[in-house]
Amino acid sequence: MVEGDGAVPLCASAELAERGPARVFDLLWRGEPVRGFALRFDGAVVAYVNRCAHVPSELDWVPGEFLDRERRYIVCATHGALYEPGDGRCRAGPCGRGRLTAITVREAGGRVYWYPSADTRPAPSADPGPGSPA
Ligand code: FES
Repeated sequence: MVEGDGAVPLCASAELAERGPARVFDLLWRGEPVRGFALRFDGAVVAYVNRCAHVPSELDWVPGEFLDRERRYIVCATHGALYEPGDGRCRAGPCGRGRLTAITVREAGGRVYWYPSADTRPAPSADPGPGSPA
């Protein structure tokens, strides 16, 4: 369900622990079905399209696990690229100066919402309910 301001409910704020597992969700990116992910880093919720800047593969090494062992960088499971959680910039790895595609998110009233853009839209069958996505 999309809110009046275009926000799409994602999850409860409490579901995103500091540097914990991400909430993964379905969306359309440039018309293509993809997954996005949201996690909390340094107190703020950030969200990106789950697609490496190197080659178009998903990043998580275990579903919902995006951070490296030290919980400092988002790491790509395929070739080990490291991304800054705060802005998605690649810090090391074969993608060089690439960057993850950011998704705008907002917290309000104990809930997390994401905002569609010119490139991102809710998946037709998206169920943003409180349970884990498929
Ligand atoms: S696919 Fe992510 S670093 Fe190569």
